[in-house]
Amino acid sequence: MDDAADSVLTAATDLLKQAATAQDVEAVRVRFLGRKGEVASLLAGIPQLPKEERPGAGRAANELKGKLTGLVEAALVRVATAKTETAIRPDATLPPLPPPRGSIHPVSRVMDEMVDIFRSLGFDAIEGREVETDWYNFGALNIPPDHPARDDWDTFYITDQMLLRPHTSPGQVRVMEKTEPPVRIVVPGRCFRRDTEDATHFSMFHQLEGLMVDEGVSFGDLKAVLHLFLQQFFRQDVAVRFEPDFFPFTEPSAQLHCTCIICDGEGCGTCKFSGWMEMLGCGMVNPHVLEAVGYDTERYTGFAFGMGADRFAMLKYRIPDGRLLFQGDVRFLSQF
Ligand code: PHE
Repeated sequence: MDDAADSVLTAATDLLKQAATAQDVEAVRVRFLGRKGEVASLLAGIPQLPKEERPGAGRAANELKGKLTGLVEAALVRVATAKTETAIRPDATLPPLPPPRGSIHPVSRVMDEMVDIFRSLGFDAIEGREVETDWYNFGALNIPPDHPARDDWDTFYITDQMLLRPHTSPGQVRVMEKTEPPVRIVVPGRCFRRDTEDATHFSMFHQLEGLMVDEGVSFGDLKAVLHLFLQQFFRQDVAVRFEPDFFPFTEPSAQLHCTCIICDGEGCGTCKFSGWMEMLGCGMVNPHVLEAVGYDTERYTGFAFGMGADRFAMLKYRIPDGRLLFQGDVRFLSQF
């Protein structure tokens, strides 16, 4: 490269080193590589040179142009990254950010709350088994083999005699087998049914079972306990009513309804404009169940109930589609 090109390169290199912003770099580019820039005037001077110098000078000017273009690009990258580095440079004097915290799943929260209320009423909480035998799940609950009621609890079988429990009711039997009355227990836990999923049905869901057996336990006790529970759980005044139903393990059996907690019984979309909501299945423990665990049915009576914790969570937190509960989406779950 000839001397002229050399000194242009040195000057441009110095200026680019000092450039702090993209605008500075652009100014250098225009000055050297612009249409009227220094490289252009070097090229323009070539025809005036003696003939034998022209090819060398042309080559030198083109070489210079290539080098300058590379230097300008490098400078542009440098100013751009320098800028972000300053922007994200941490300030070590700031107090640390709190670590991200998980939250309790809304269904667990609801089950804990349910258990707390029943504890305050003198019930103990016990855990049943998620994998149960045919006997605890059906036989002891007065559902013999081939009984049509088995269809209501169609579930996932592991072997002919072992299945994923479709309800928490087997927990009743396991406790009564080991304890003499008085019995006052709740069994919170996960259940499984071969259900087609929609906004209110899931193949995995949660129930809370309740059982009270003692001398002289009546339907009145059942009503009082559940009414009290509902008022405390929803923290509002509700009325309850019973609609006859059928469960092989209770007699009589009922669906408990309470006044709609969304509209207070006025009628709304949630209660299908009836003012009432179906809350849970319940009834007086069928003497066949008491017999199966060896209780004296002349002496003892009891009541039992089973409620869906997912449904209670949906109502309490106004969750329109229960599938949201089990999709594991942190954006949804971290709201609770
Ligand atoms: N196990 C019943 C169900 O899953 C609910 C229930 C429990 C009904 C206890 C009566 C007594 O549908």
